[in-house]
Amino acid sequence: MKNLVILISGRGSNMMAIAEACAAEGWNARIAAVISNKPDAAGLADAAQRGIATAVVDHRAHADRAAFDAALADAIDAFEPDLVVLAGFMRILSVEFVNRYAGRMLNIHPSLLPAFTGLHTHRRAIDAGCKLAGTTVHVVTPELDHGPIVAQAAVPVLEGDTEETLAARVTAAEHILYPRVVRWWVEGKLDFAGAGRIAHRSGAAQWLV
Ligand code: GRF
Repeated sequence: MKNLVILISGRGSNMMAIAEACAAEGWNARIAAVISNKPDAAGLADAAQRGIATAVVDHRAHADRAAFDAALADAIDAFEPDLVVLAGFMRILSVEFVNRYAGRMLNIHPSLLPAFTGLHTHRRAIDAGCKLAGTTVHVVTPELDHGPIVAQAAVPVLEGDTEETLAARVTAAEHILYPRVVRWWVEGKLDFAGAGRIAHRSGAAQWLV
């Protein structure tokens, strides 16, 4: 049984999609905890309602990034995670923190990486006239939004889209993609051997349109 620890900062809809798939599909895994850097993150209540342990490590209560990251690592490690899943966790993490979970920390970023790292991805995709947007699940490495890509989902950018309408379309795709990828990880389906290129051992499509 693999222990998953999910980090959130807000709504937590990806976290809930993973928790629901884990339960519904009977993964050999449990959501050991949901941890937020924000005490008022809406997803905390949803997780608690599902009977999942929750914790808050408030970044504002720590003097600097190093102190916050150390406290966060302590909170995570208390749940003995096999995998750390970042799901809308809006903090930049130190190299030390990232290295501590090297190869066992995933993130979802709402763009087709390597396009649009950082913030405001939907606005930037619309402004650039993109016809496709999407989302990427990647392994976390020290450089922000740059780790090896595990899977991507593409959605159309439609005439008249606003940031909100495009975000909603991307988020719906994330709720399919992220649980799928976490399940692959739990089942040992991902092959990390290929120098930064992650393959699925049975050749499952690592993309979704
Ligand atoms: C998602 O779009 C994710 O890609 C980004 O932040 C959003 C989080 O949404 N990192 P939620 O908190 O999972 O609902």
